[in-house]
Order: sequence, then structure tokens, then C-alpha cells
Amino acid sequence: MKIKRRKFLRNSVVTGTGMLGYHNLSAKSRLLEQPVPHPIVMATWDNSPAVDTAWKVIAAGGNALDAVEAGARVPEKDPLDKSVGYGGLPDESGVVTLDACIMDHQGNAGSVTFLQHIMHPISVARKVMEETPHVMLSGQGALDFALEQGFRKEKLLTEDSKKAWEAWSKQKKPFGETNFENHDTIGILAIDKQGNIAGACTTSGMAYKKHGRVGDSPIIGAGMYVDNEVGGACATGVGEYVMKTLGSFLIVELMRQGASPQQACEEAIERIVTRHPRRFKDFQVGYLAINKQGQKGAYGTEKGFEYTLSQNGSLRLNPADYFLKK
Ligand code: GLY
Repeated sequence: MKIKRRKFLRNSVVTGTGMLGYHNLSAKSRLLEQPVPHPIVMATWDNSPAVDTAWKVIAAGGNALDAVEAGARVPEKDPLDKSVGYGGLPDESGVVTLDACIMDHQGNAGSVTFLQHIMHPISVARKVMEETPHVMLSGQGALDFALEQGFRKEKLLTEDSKKAWEAWSKQKKPFGETNFENHDTIGILAIDKQGNIAGACTTSGMAYKKHGRVGDSPIIGAGMYVDNEVGGACATGVGEYVMKTLGSFLIVELMRQGASPQQACEEAIERIVTRHPRRFKDFQVGYLAINKQGQKGAYGTEKGFEYTLSQNGSLRLNPADYFLKK
């Protein structure tokens, strides 16, 4: 497949409507000139209950941070969701390990990695953000902190997930063999009625991963990133490729330079494709983005990526456009 590189950045400089003009504005004047966008909630995959929950927070006058946390908690406690929280598929040793991050409109961020036994890693990530001077806590330290904060220790491996892991163990599939089923990380972005943006991302990561593996989801700038002046982005899919290109940060920076959310998502996927021209056909990565004007973007490496959107009172599941067309 011929890889087509978009030239929107160059075009925006040539026409004077994009990057250069944008950079000439001070941060303060950029904020002043922007009308408050309509509220929006957007999440990876078919996550209607999560988006609906987040939307209700915003509709009731709540802020984007509370909305994305409330939304992310929905699949975290759903035992049928095999890639997030309770019921998530375990690693190769049969242990469920969780990654999550959260970011508010003031640039504050919190994250947990390799967390075990806690049903709501997104809320622990928020506590890291709000109750410590740090951004990321990991493993036993993250668990100790969660327990100090009053979270309960729970068994996260359900009978269903245990059976799936036992079946996988018997098959001895090559490590790294992946499919959509085990990559439905939820990334969720929201703009509230004040026009503030927040984001969250939470996952049990790649099913049957190596014990100790941490993916993109808790990495600020990889699995999710928000800059309240510009917009927000989040990722799903095989985290190794997202991490190697710092995809969510890349998308926000492209939007800062004049790209629309859709252009920025496409450029970030093309970055992966150009870096891994032989391998990208074997995995899915999907990005979502929103900008400060309330515009949205979604793009995947291949067919199948979809997103749930709530805007103007309607909740819809939408297919995302993708790179790998037949
Ligand atoms: N995107 C989730 C992961 O790779 O862990």
C-alpha cells in the first residue's frame, strides 16, 4: 500500500490560515477569542453506558473531570468487559493488572500502572493527581496508596476470565498475538458547559501480556492527553505503537498547529504506519480527539474501530474511518 502523507501543515503555512497565524496569538488572546463550545462526551468503542453516565454529570452542571471519571468507572466495574477493570483478562501468569490515567483542564494529571486488586484504578489515578505531588504510582506502591485512601482490596479475576486464560494457556499461542477482543481500552474525553476539557483512560491492557508489562493507557501523552487551550485526545489498541509515537500528545500538538481533530488523528495513525510499514497491518490502534471548538475526530489503523458520542442530547455509536482500506 502506498502511504500518502498529508500536507495540511505545509498548506496551512502557505495559505496563512493555519499554523503560523495561530502561533502569533498569545495564550490569553487565544482563550478570549474562543466561544464556549457545546458540551460533548466521546469514548472509544461501544461504551454507551459510560458515555451516558458522563453526559448526565455534565447535563446536571458537573465538570468534565467528574464526568470522565464517572464514565470510566462504568466499564471498570462491569465483569463482562474483558479489557477493563473487574473481569479484565489477566496477564500470562493469570494476574489482572490495571493501568489508568486522568487529566483535568488545568493540566493536572494522575496515573497508576501495574495496579492489582482495585476495581477503580481511574479513581486511584485521580487521588494520585489530587492528593500527592506526583503524577504516577506503580505496582505495590500504587496499591498501598489506594488502600491508604480507603479503596477496598478485591478479587478482579472472574471465573469467565480465568477460564479464558486457562484455555489460552493450553493453546500456547505465540506471545503478542492480539485481536480486537482484548484491546477495548476505554479512553473518554469530555467538554463541560464551561468549555473545560478533561480526559481519562483505563484498561486491563493486552490480554495475556508478560507479567509486568505496562501499556500506553497510563502514560500521559500516549494513552490520553488534554490541553484546555487546544483540545484532548485518547488512544486504544496495541499500546506499544501508541507509546512509541506518543500519539495523544502528538494529536493535541497537531491541533495546536492548526490541524482539525480528524486531520490530527489521521496524521498520528500515519506516523505509526510510516514507522512500521510491514507490521501495521497486524494490529489495531484507534485515536479519538476533540478540540476547543467542539469538533471531533476518530481514526484507526484498520476497519472495526468505533466510538460512542454524546452531543446535543443524542447518544450514538459511530464507525471510525481507518487507514487500511482494501
Ligand atoms: N491500549 C491498551 C494497552 O495496550 O495496554
